[in-house]
Amino acid sequence: MKQVLGILIVSAVVLVSCKQDGSTQLKSGTNLNPEIEQKIDNLLAQMTLDEKIGQLNQYTSRWEMTGPAPDNIDSVAFYNLLKEGKIGSMLNVTGAITTRRVQQYAVDSSRLGIPIILGYDVIHGFKTMFPIPLAEAASWDPEVAKLSSRIAAIEASAAGLHWTFAPMVDIARDARWGRVMEGSGEDPFLGAKMAYARVKGFQGEDLAEENTIAACTKHFAAYGFAEAGRDYNTVDIGERTLHNMVLPPFKATVDAGVATFMNSFNILNGVPATADSYLQRDILKGEWGFDGFVVSDWNSIGELIPHGLAANREEAAKLAITAGSDMDMEGNCYLLGLKSQVEKGEVDEVLVDDAVRRVLRIKFRLGLFDDPFQYCDAEREMEVTLSESHLNSAREVAKKSIVLLKNENSILPLKKSGQKIAVIGDLAGSKDVPLGSWRAQAVSNSAVSLVEGIASAVSNVSSLYYEKGPLYVKNQRTFATHLQFNETDKSGINQAVDAARKSDVVVIALGEDCFQTGEGRSQVDIGLKGLQQELLEEVYKVNKNVVVVLMNGRPLEINWMAENVPAIVEAWHLGSEAGNAIADVLFGDYNPAGKLPVSFPRSVGQAPIYYNYMNTGRPTGGDAVFWSHYTDEQNTPLFPFGYGLSYTTFEYSEFRLSSENLTMGGELKVSAIIKNTGEVAGEEVVQLYIRDLVGSISRPVKELKGFEKIMLEPGESKEVSFTITTKDLEFYGINNRWEAEPGDFKLWVGTNSSEGLEGEFELK
Ligand code: BGC
Repeated sequence: MKQVLGILIVSAVVLVSCKQDGSTQLKSGTNLNPEIEQKIDNLLAQMTLDEKIGQLNQYTSRWEMTGPAPDNIDSVAFYNLLKEGKIGSMLNVTGAITTRRVQQYAVDSSRLGIPIILGYDVIHGFKTMFPIPLAEAASWDPEVAKLSSRIAAIEASAAGLHWTFAPMVDIARDARWGRVMEGSGEDPFLGAKMAYARVKGFQGEDLAEENTIAACTKHFAAYGFAEAGRDYNTVDIGERTLHNMVLPPFKATVDAGVATFMNSFNILNGVPATADSYLQRDILKGEWGFDGFVVSDWNSIGELIPHGLAANREEAAKLAITAGSDMDMEGNCYLLGLKSQVEKGEVDEVLVDDAVRRVLRIKFRLGLFDDPFQYCDAEREMEVTLSESHLNSAREVAKKSIVLLKNENSILPLKKSGQKIAVIGDLAGSKDVPLGSWRAQAVSNSAVSLVEGIASAVSNVSSLYYEKGPLYVKNQRTFATHLQFNETDKSGINQAVDAARKSDVVVIALGEDCFQTGEGRSQVDIGLKGLQQELLEEVYKVNKNVVVVLMNGRPLEINWMAENVPAIVEAWHLGSEAGNAIADVLFGDYNPAGKLPVSFPRSVGQAPIYYNYMNTGRPTGGDAVFWSHYTDEQNTPLFPFGYGLSYTTFEYSEFRLSSENLTMGGELKVSAIIKNTGEVAGEEVVQLYIRDLVGSISRPVKELKGFEKIMLEPGESKEVSFTITTKDLEFYGINNRWEAEPGDFKLWVGTNSSEGLEGEFELK
C-alpha cells in the first residue's frame, strides 16, 4: 500500500514540478493583479506554517450541518483556533449581526488579523426562493439564471456572506440520483450557458462590490455519473466522456471568471477526485489557467481514508494538497495532518504557499482586507431581503421554468370564471414543498401554495373546492431526515373524489416532496410515491377533465398519467412564488414556453437515458432480437430533451443553409422560418442540433449547438438563424485534444431534440 501511495504522490508532484533543480513549481493564473500579488507576498512572508495552514481550514458553525460533523472541535476550542489564526473560512454562519461578530473576533483576536471568508449553499435563492436549478434550466434562458443568481447574491451578501457554493454544474443523466435537481440537466451545451450566466449573476462586475459574492463551481468532477444513480458512488467513465460531456460547463465558469471550485466526493476512474491532480492541477489550474482556489467537499479529504487511498489524516492531507485541493472543508486533515507532513519533508511548503496565496487572492478580490465588515450590513439586510421586487422576479423566473407536457383538446388555459374547479392533493396546499431542497435561509412554509395561487387568480373563490386527499409524507420533513410516505391511510380520497365529481375541471398536484431530492436522496423508484397514483385514478374515474400539476425535482416515471389525463404541467419546485406562477400558466396569463432540460424516461430501467447517445453498431432491428434494445420497453424516452408545448402552435419551414460546404476556420449560416400558427402570442425555443456522421471516435447521434427564444404574435413569422463555426464542431477525439474533423455533418433546426427540419453539409 505504502509503495502504491509513493508512486501516486511522486507522479502527482512531477506533474507540478518542472524546475531543473527539482523544486516544486506551480502554474499560476494569467490575469493577476500585481498589487494584490505583492500584498500576498508581504503577508505570506509574515505567516508561520500554522497560520498558513489555518487559511486552508474551513469549519461549519455548529448551528447547521450539511454532512457528518467533525469529531474533535468543541466551541471553546473553536474560538481558540480563530484566535490562533487557524481558521481561514467558515460555512453556514449567516445574518449581518452574527457574521459581524465572528469576523470581528477573527480580525481582532488573531495575530495577523486576516479576515475569514464565509460561505453558504446559496443554490437557488437565499430567502427569496427561485426555482430549483433544474427547473430554471427549463427556461432555456440564461438571463433568467443570471437574474436569480444576482438577487440571491444581493440577499446573501447583505446577510454577511461572501461566497456561495454554487453553481452546481454536474451533468446528470440518471433520474435516480437525487442531486439532479441541483444542476441544469443532461446537456453540456445548455449546462455551460446556464453555468456561465449563474457565475456572472453571483459575481457581478466586480467581486469587491458589497452586493456580489464569490461563486464556486462544483463538483469537480463527474459526480453526476455515480454508478446506479446512488449518491457518492464510484464513477467510471472514459476520458472522452469526461472531456466532451462533463467538463464543458466547468470550463464555461472559468471563462466567466469564477472565483472558486469545489472538488467532489466520487472516485473518478480509480482516483477520488479530491486526490486527482490530473483534474485539479493539469486541467483546472494548468490548461484552463484558473487562479482562484479549490475547496474540498465536506470532509472529502478525510474520506480519502475510507476510499482506501490514505491510511490516516496525514496521508490524506498530503494527497489532497499535492493534487491541488486548497481548502479543507470540515475534514480537519490540514489542521491536524499537514504540518507534520511539511516538517517531515513529505510535502513541499511551496504547495502550501500556493494554496494560501489562492485563498488570500480571493479574499483580496472580495475587498475583505479593505473592509472585512462591508458585507455585514443589518440595514441593507432588512431592506433587500424578500423585497417586493425580488418576489416579483421570483414569480417571473418561476413562470418561465414551467413546461407544458400535454394539453389535449386545449383543456388549458382554464377560465377564471364560470367554471367549477376542484384543486386536489397534499402538494397543492403545501407552502413548503415548492421552496425545494437546498433552500438556504428560506422561511419554512413561506411559499405561495398552488391552491393560494389559484384562489387569487379566479374571480370567485366559491367556485373552488380544495381537497387535500391523503397525506403524502407521514413524518417530520427536514433536510436531514428520511421521509416516510403514507402508503396506508386512505382518508381523504373520498372527499377528493366528491370534489372532482361536482367540478368542471380538476387540478391535481402530484409528484415529490422537496426533500425527496437533493443530496443523499437517490431512489430506485422514480414513480409517484405513497397513495398518489391511486388518488389520481380514483379522481379520473369520476372526472376526465384532469390537469396534473407536477411538483418534482427529478424526471418521473408517469406513463399512466401521460396516456390518460388530458393535461400535464411540469411545475418542479418553483420557489417562493410557485403558486402564483403556476396559476399564471393555468389561466393563460402567461403562455408557457419551458423545454425539458432532461429526458423523461418511460421506465427507470432505461437510466441513464439521454438524447446525445452513441448510435451503437446495432441501432435498429424492428421485431428482430439481436439489436440494441429492450424486449419489454421502447428505447425512446416518454418526453425527450428539449420538449415543451405552448398554448399556441409553431410551424417550421424554409430551412436554409448558406452553403453545403464549410472550410476549416470558416463559418456557415443555417436558418428557418418559424410561424405562430395559433390564436395567442407565444414564445418558442428554437433549437439547433448537429451530428458528425463519421469521426475518429464515435460521435453522438445529436448534439445541441445553439438555441434561441423568440416571441411571436399570432400569425407572425420570424427567421431564426445560427452561425456554425468549425469551433462548434470540435470534440475531444482520438488525439486527446479538441479538434474538428473533416467530413459530413447532419443538422436539425427544430422544437425539441427529436423533431426538426433537416439538412447536411460537409466540412472540408
Ligand atoms: C455538498 C456540497 C455542499 C457542502 C456544504 C456537501 O455535502 O456535497 O455541495 O456545498 O456539503 O454544505
